[in-house]
Amino acid sequence: MGQIARHWYFNKRPKDVIEADTLVLREDPVPALEPGQILIRSLYMSLDATNRVWLSDWDTYMDPLPIGARMLGFILGEVAESQNPTFPKGSLVTGLGTWSDWIVTDAEGWAPFPRPEGIPLSDAFGILAVAGPTAYVGLLEIGKPKPGDTVVVTAAAGAVGALVGQIAKLHGCRVVGVAGSDDKCKWLRDDLGFDAVINYRKENLLDALKREAPNGIDVHFENVGGDQLDAGLTLMNEGGRVVICGLISTYNSSEPVPGPYMFRNVIMKRLTIQGFVILDYAAHFPEYHAKLIEWMRSGELKYRIHIEDGLENAVDALRMLYTGGNNGKLMVRIAPDAR
Ligand SMILES: NC(=O)c1ccc[n+]([C@@H]2O[C@H](COP(=O)([O-])OP(=O)(O)OC[C@H]3O[C@@H](n4cnc5c(N)ncnc54)[C@H](OP(=O)(O)O)[C@@H]3O)[C@@H](O)[C@H]2O)c1
Repeated sequence: MGQIARHWYFNKRPKDVIEADTLVLREDPVPALEPGQILIRSLYMSLDATNRVWLSDWDTYMDPLPIGARMLGFILGEVAESQNPTFPKGSLVTGLGTWSDWIVTDAEGWAPFPRPEGIPLSDAFGILAVAGPTAYVGLLEIGKPKPGDTVVVTAAAGAVGALVGQIAKLHGCRVVGVAGSDDKCKWLRDDLGFDAVINYRKENLLDALKREAPNGIDVHFENVGGDQLDAGLTLMNEGGRVVICGLISTYNSSEPVPGPYMFRNVIMKRLTIQGFVILDYAAHFPEYHAKLIEWMRSGELKYRIHIEDGLENAVDALRMLYTGGNNGKLMVRIAPDAR
């Protein structure tokens, strides 16, 4: 019998949170390769907040995923068979693939993934695939921090947020992190060197920000949206930059989300407010990777990788992102790395 692959299929559009029947796991035979194609054995799959957005019918930066299609995700895999000289058997590849343990593709949109010396493969993929470039671009190219600036980051203990805060520290900023548990806040302060941390579940965020950012905010890095964006906007300094990286608190909402109420400060404080999609910066990834790898090797960038095992557990794992159940970059290990 030929190889069988398991795939998650988009079954039913969720109204709010992802439900038990939103995605279904099914098996299909793996087809024989045609010229130019490769067979990928998936090793790791990145879980990203935007996965929920792909299941909506919103008008976004990508075509909505049609019902019946295989679920999409960022994959790191090993080439198991190849009819394509760019991707020899045994090499590592990364790209936007499907939630599958075996993937047959013509390799368009896939790129070779070098194995960085001295960094575990899971860490390299977890940080370099999406989170690291997002933190780098969002903070440095859009937030444009200057030494002495106060930088506030929300979802600060998450994959992107933890890197943003540390990169801001490396650029001489005062960093205030907002997170949803005492453990996360302790890690940010004691291990990552954030200057101040706020557990938004325990105290009023605006009051706490007034205390922890007494000179106002120069760069607000938004990962959450809603009340958290509003609190940041309220305390922005003249000429400040508001980086809209993510609005995770709104992704499960089928109703229009109100606010932000303090939008007038965009005028009153002459703010620059800018969103971005990291996929648009793919051509510059080698440059970001070189810097990120340097900081990872030197220990200047610390991170947590949260791995859940098994393709079959992917949906439960994804849900963690919207409840704060993840501790660091969330990934699913689909198969062991042979090396
Ligand atoms: N623009 C881009 O190209 C781009 C690329 C990658 C990621 N992003 C965005 O960056 C953000 C962070 O992504 P990530 O992958 O690094 O995820 P993450 O921060 O590792 O995980 C998500 C975290 O968000 C917090 N959260 C979830 N729902 C919340 C809610 N309703 N209210 C407040 N906090 C909530 C939780 O942390 P707490 O426990 O602290 O609440 C959760 O752990 C997301 O908004 C994502 O869409 C954007």
